[in-house]
Amino acid sequence: MSKWVNTVVAGLALAVVGSSVVAFEGVGRKATPDEVKAWDIDVRPDFKGLPKGSGSVAKGMEVWEAKCASCHGVFGESTDVFTPIAGGTSKEDMKTGRVANLAREDFPQRTTMMKVATVSTLWDYINRAMPWTNPKTLTVEEVYASVAYILNLADMVPEDFVLSDKNIAEVQAKLPNRNGMTTDHGLWDLKGKPDVKNVACMKDCKPEVKVTSFLPGSAVDSHGNLVEQNRPIGPARGLDTNKKQ
Ligand code: HEC
Repeated sequence: MSKWVNTVVAGLALAVVGSSVVAFEGVGRKATPDEVKAWDIDVRPDFKGLPKGSGSVAKGMEVWEAKCASCHGVFGESTDVFTPIAGGTSKEDMKTGRVANLAREDFPQRTTMMKVATVSTLWDYINRAMPWTNPKTLTVEEVYASVAYILNLADMVPEDFVLSDKNIAEVQAKLPNRNGMTTDHGLWDLKGKPDVKNVACMKDCKPEVKVTSFLPGSAVDSHGNLVEQNRPIGPARGLDTNKKQ
């Protein structure tokens, strides 16, 4: 982590003079432990990085009503534009780890609790990004409490539940869509196969890369001539979209 921050600082010291790139030696400094700490806040699925602490459903309700409900609705059902946080999951899903409603095309909404596969993501996301207008202002207790409140809205924990670093793994084991994470799919399904599937090649790779994705003729020049909009250094080149494809 510290090496990375340092690289970023060093990277800023690159200056472009005319067409040549000049690096200044000795510019930048090592990130201080406090600076690294301020960046290094991620909470992982195995709960590495999760601060010790706890928060109750009751406290979560207070936090929610004061700081979240204006956008997400009192019961996480969402106000106008945001997708709902809770709803659409069942006790049965908690056993299977797959949310059955996700397979139903007639089901009207995909809520957060239907999709999320790791409770650490809820914790991490709320901690770093919410409330939308005032991120990183919640205390550790408030983050635990708002996650506990959401879990209660989803009927996963009772009203008197207190979520903590000690019992969060038990919650994960009941998360409705915990088995829903997959890398074996693309954005679109084409005849039962994902549209994009990359297999990393580390040895004896075929030298030729075949580009199999392209814009349809009707859309190809809708953003002007791409070849003129790419920077002239580096490997990426835009297509000459003035030419007939
Ligand atoms: C001013 C409006 C606003 C407030 C207040 C707010 N949020 Fe959000 N919230 C959003 C928006 C907008 C998004 C979607 C952001 C995005 O996709 O980049 C979001 C996303 C989320 C998500 C992820 C939803 C998903 O499925 O991706 C969670 C969880 C969440 N908020 C929890 C909270 C909590 C907890 C609070 C209170 C501490 C809170 N929010 C307060 C606007 C708000």
